[in-house]
Amino acid sequence: MDALQQQLQVYEQEINEFDPADAAALEQYRIRFLGTKGIVKQVWGEMKNVPVDKKRDAGQLLNSFKQLAEARYEQYAHMLNTVDKKSAVADISLPGTPLPTGTRHPLRVTENEIISIFEKIGFSVATGPEIEDDWHNFTSLNMPEHHPARDMQDTFYVSQNPDWVLRTHTSSVQARILEQQKPPVRVICPGRVYRNETISARAHCFFHQAEGLYVDKDVSFADLKQTLYYFVTEMFGADTKVRFRPSYFPFTEPSAEMDISCTICGGKGCNICKHTGWVEILGCGMVHPNMLRNFGIDPEVYTGFAFGLGIERITQIKYQVNDLRLYSQNDIRFLKQFQSL
Ligand code: PHE
Repeated sequence: MDALQQQLQVYEQEINEFDPADAAALEQYRIRFLGTKGIVKQVWGEMKNVPVDKKRDAGQLLNSFKQLAEARYEQYAHMLNTVDKKSAVADISLPGTPLPTGTRHPLRVTENEIISIFEKIGFSVATGPEIEDDWHNFTSLNMPEHHPARDMQDTFYVSQNPDWVLRTHTSSVQARILEQQKPPVRVICPGRVYRNETISARAHCFFHQAEGLYVDKDVSFADLKQTLYYFVTEMFGADTKVRFRPSYFPFTEPSAEMDISCTICGGKGCNICKHTGWVEILGCGMVHPNMLRNFGIDPEVYTGFAFGLGIERITQIKYQVNDLRLYSQNDIRFLKQFQSL
């Protein structure tokens, strides 16, 4: 037993002091210690000479010897590999290691495009909180408690404070801007909004909007139309037609919804436009005098227009995405299709 122990110590020293100079030396090591006729096998063969009452201790010794021989082998192989790799870096004729790159999310691509179109005509970007209070999301927008228009924007309330809601539209940023800035105001406000809807291909409990607001002296409905027409031609091309339909929003008067001629079928009628030739892309109107008054702006001196467009909707029309759920499923097969954008 003592002889075995001594023998193992000698081998252990050899193992620990081994110099893995190159692959051939390492192979020698492997054959000598771990090969079928190697030292590890040999010393295990000694077991038969160990007296029964010592077998347990001997087994433990042999086991840790085997583990050492194997672990050092792995370690030496790793060292050799790293050394090899280091010298490979110096060989500039070898191809580089490709790094997989991510892609921009299609909604972000659309958002960036919307922002840059409006930046060109002097709008700057503004943002606001997604958890809003009742005043900024509803009341200051001429939508007092119990106003029926609130029903169309059922949202999520925060139980910690009954005054807090997840904002239902980016129009809340209009309120935040008018509270801080005096006209002239010209902003584009992108962001995420929430509604209490059952998730399907056409509805989701959250989506994205971009809000536009322009308040100054002598801003007219004609300015609103021309601004939106400019946006549509930049976004969808000069052939695209627009039409305005009268609508209602408590915070604009008059209000309208704007449709564009279907870019998929060119107005002939298809699934996307539900065979009407037109698709709705935004709500808009002249900022309601009550709203201006709420923020201490005199509606006799200043007028303004506002609009809110759906980023998912624009992306759907532009890239023909037929299911809203795809945007938030994180499916790499979907996301990769936007790699070139
Ligand atoms: N906030 C409205 C909505 O979410 C859209 C809108 C914005 C309408 C600005 C008019 C002016 O439906």
